[in-house]
Amino acid sequence: MNDFKPGLDGVIATDTNVSYLDVDNEEIVIRGYDLIELAGSKTYPEVAYLVINGNLPNTKELNSFQKLLLDDSAFPSETYDLLNLIPKSSMVMDVIRTGISYLAGFHSEQNLMDTSENQNLNKGTRLIAEVAILTANSHRILNGQKIIKPDSSKTFSENFISMILGKSVSQKQVEIFDKILTCYIEHEMPNSTFAARVIASTLSDMYGAFVGGISSLKGPLHGGANEAAIHMILDIKEKGGSKIAERYILDKLKNKERIMGFGHRVYMKKYDPRALFLKDYISDLESNIENGEELHNIYKIVENVMAREKGLYPNTDYPIALLFYMLGIPIPLYTPIFFASRTAGLVAHVIEQHNNNRLFRPRVLYTGPRGLKL
Ligand SMILES: CC(C)(COP(=O)(O)OP(=O)(O)OC[C@H]1O[C@@H](n2cnc3c(N)ncnc32)[C@H](O)[C@@H]1OP(=O)(O)O)[C@@H](O)C(=O)NCCC(=O)NCCS
Repeated sequence: MNDFKPGLDGVIATDTNVSYLDVDNEEIVIRGYDLIELAGSKTYPEVAYLVINGNLPNTKELNSFQKLLLDDSAFPSETYDLLNLIPKSSMVMDVIRTGISYLAGFHSEQNLMDTSENQNLNKGTRLIAEVAILTANSHRILNGQKIIKPDSSKTFSENFISMILGKSVSQKQVEIFDKILTCYIEHEMPNSTFAARVIASTLSDMYGAFVGGISSLKGPLHGGANEAAIHMILDIKEKGGSKIAERYILDKLKNKERIMGFGHRVYMKKYDPRALFLKDYISDLESNIENGEELHNIYKIVENVMAREKGLYPNTDYPIALLFYMLGIPIPLYTPIFFASRTAGLVAHVIEQHNNNRLFRPRVLYTGPRGLKL
């Protein structure tokens, strides 16, 4: 009991062949490949296929996989009747979470609880398609907009961002959106993946593991950081812009406040390779919005102050927050899109957990009283 590590800091929770953060060599290993190399030359569906199946797809495999990712024929339209009942003040993440729970019911009990690899692959692929549809339409429902169906003539990423924005977008925007999805796709053992694996380890089903995963990813210390980061950049802009950015951060640090989008349990004082890769795309989108250059300047000042004052660097949520903003994506969708992308990683981990299961059941360091008399 003397090996207690609060927050399981540095503890190896499982063995895996899905991914690994090699911090010393600044590499995110995904099924043997470097994630940044994958993001530079492969599309989201190709990397999703790799994450789930363990190998990159050939053309035929990719075509049929992409078809499944855009297939909404099994998506019950009654889902929207249910989601319409949810209070309009709800967060998009909560609407998606409810949607996932509901969709589980469209599998028979026997099928839902079947944890064989084949069944999990089918359910997992269907979930990637379902979560993307739920993500775009949950936000539309909360805002009283019309539901949009996927357009199977488009690529996965083009369709996803078009459904979100309700209009067609340029190839450059699609390309950057696709790279963001790819960077978010899988990241070893973050809290949400751990939560999903803990649930799967009871031999509970893939949908249940996803409900746990999405609840975890919603938190501001995890996926919620991208929304918090853009709110901070916009707040700085509102209060005086790049002229006051340094003072703004120094004041927050003095008050012991956290700067969202900085720091990471595993990277600690090192740059997140995904943030390093993605920040170069900010200049490409700067002219897309009013004040794009000013927001980029604020971004750079905050980054410099954090490096100088705390030796802390951006995690991937920091550049993605600004990129999403420049793509015109509504802020309440930032964290849901992160989750939609991460579905591929969760599917791979649930499959791995079910294939080689050991129930998670840790112990505690008891600090309460003993021997109380009734
Ligand atoms: C991600 C995070 C929770 C990891 O934290 P952790 O491993 O638990 O690290 P700790 O909370 O022990 O912090 C270590 C030190 O760094 C500081 N620190 C870490 N992240 C910081 C941040 N974002 N802003 C300011 N200070 C930060 C802590 O205050 C602490 O400083 P101290 O030693 O002077 O007290 C943390 O970096 C954080 O809160 N970041 C902001 C949220 C975020 O961007 N999350 C997305 C992660 S991908």
